[in-house]
This record gives sequence, C-alpha cells and structure tokens, in this order.
Amino acid sequence: MTVLVVTRRLPPPVESRAARDYIPRWNVDDRLYSADDLIAATKGADALLITPQDRLTADTLSRMSSTVRAIATLSVGFDHIDVRSAATRGIVVTNTPDVLTDATADLTLLLLLGASRRANEGQEIVRTGSWTDPRPTELLGWQLTGKTLGVYGMGRIGQAVARRARAFGMNIHYTNRRQLHRELEEDAVFHADARELLQVSPFLTLHAPATPETSRFLNAAMIGLLPRGAVVVNAARGSLVDDDALIAALRSGHIAAAGLDVYDGEPRVRPEYRTLPNTFLLPHLGSATLETRTRMGMVALDNLDAVFAGKAPSNPVKLGVAPTS
Ligand code: DGY
Repeated sequence: MTVLVVTRRLPPPVESRAARDYIPRWNVDDRLYSADDLIAATKGADALLITPQDRLTADTLSRMSSTVRAIATLSVGFDHIDVRSAATRGIVVTNTPDVLTDATADLTLLLLLGASRRANEGQEIVRTGSWTDPRPTELLGWQLTGKTLGVYGMGRIGQAVARRARAFGMNIHYTNRRQLHRELEEDAVFHADARELLQVSPFLTLHAPATPETSRFLNAAMIGLLPRGAVVVNAARGSLVDDDALIAALRSGHIAAAGLDVYDGEPRVRPEYRTLPNTFLLPHLGSATLETRTRMGMVALDNLDAVFAGKAPSNPVKLGVAPTS
C-alpha cells in the first residue's frame, strides 16, 4: 500500500477515502508543519497531500525522502511549490482546478460588497453597541449598479466573477494573457494593456496567478491610474499587491476601500490592514465551503490514484505553465 502524508485535517469523506485506499500519515495536531517537521514526515512516504500553506521550496524538496513520487496540492494555485525542483526529482505535482471556481467567485462578490458597503465599519458599530443614532448619512457606501468592474486575470474564476457581477448591473472590462473567445467574453471589454484597464475601473478585482510577472502588480504607479475612490478586492494571492502602496492609498482615500482574502506572507497580516476602517478582511476563505473542500480533496485523491495506477493524472501541474485561476 502507498504511504500518504496528509499535512492537515480534511473533511471526513476525504479522510475516510484516504484511510481506505492509502496508509495515511496524519498530522494529528492539525498545526502547520515547519519545513523540518514536513521533511521528517516524508520518511519512507510515497506521496503528499498538502495545502497552499505548506511551502515546498527547492531546499525543502531536496531534503525530503527520495521515496516521494507524487504531491497533490489542495488548491488551484501552486506558487507554494518549486515545481521545477519537483520535476527534477521525478515527482509528479497535481492541483485542483475547476471545483473551487464557484466558491471563490462567490467569496469575491462578498469582498466586493463588503468593501463597497463598508461592512467592517458597520459591524463594528453594531458589535460595540455604538449604533445609537441612525442617520441618513451614516456609512454611505458605493453602489455597484452601472459601474465598471475591472477584472485582472480572466481565467475560470475571473469569468465566474464577471457572470455574478453582471447580475449586479456591472459592466465588465478585463485584461488577460489572451483575449477570450467571443462566447466566453460575452459583452466584456478586453484591454491588452493592464494600465488601460485600471484607468476605467472604479472597482477592481484580481484573479491572476502568482508568478514573477504578476508579483506586486498593484504597486503605487498602478494604483495611481485607478480613478480616485476606487474599490479594490483580492481573492487571488497576496503577492499581487504591494502592501505599502495599498496601505498608503487606503489612508489617502485614493482607494476608498479594499476587500482582501489573501495576504503576502499569510497567515501574517500587515497590522495596518487590521486597523484601517476601510478594509474588509477574511482569512483566505475563497474555497472554504464544505462542498468545495470535499470536492477538492476528492480531486486530489483522484490525481494520486491515477499516478499510483500508472496513469496520467487529470490535473498535472506543468512546468512553465501558470494556472488559470
Ligand atoms: C487555491 O486553490 O489556490 C486557493 O487559494 C486555496 O483556497
């Protein structure tokens, strides 16, 4: 039987299947492994089922047991894995695209609404009992109807967000590596140059994968192109944002509000985000529904099953190919 290191607790149906079909090595405390703990857990193991918080750098991979043949990550993103090093070691890496698209798009709309309707400030006055004198001018937010939503990265999740935003009466503009075919694009307006997209986007949502090209995409210069009072949301990866620049813009009011589900260096969060009133913050909940996390676990196991049956897994992570998030 195949020894499978499972780095975190997973929904019960996924754990039951892993226990039935593999010799699982559980992380009984369900605490994030240090690199050394993870390396120790791989001794004699054949496969790993990991999460985006498990960082498999070239160094960690080089110190892992050479028995490991496959790594399945419970995520569409795989920026936490040095895929080149894994390939050099003959390790197959797989991810879980598609099944998390709807959950992540739903959460993006929550960020968009939470930021633009000042949900953080509203919750604060209710929770602290300071909602004593309701006024017609209290906590006025910014309506989505008829406004433009700029989508940076129009992969599966970006398209699912666009579908939802249209239902709120928004106009969709986007940038992407390639312009979408007409039937996928529908009425969305393509901008080959992201700078043009920002200039017309009072609302901006980020859905590009974390790559060297997208790192710190939203920096001070790019923020400067957004209309004053723009609302920005990020459910993709924290590395897309230059935190210093976003914090400065939230303070100056150039950006009216931000909805964030992901953070550079998470679970650490810049203290400024926590103290600014005009942020709506969630702890990387994009795919966190029972249904979606269960499906992600099942897809990860399907991929591992295929590898150990000598077949091609459905979701191999290919060298040099960024995920369409
Ligand atoms: C992903 O799949 O990359 C998500 O960020 C994990 O929740």
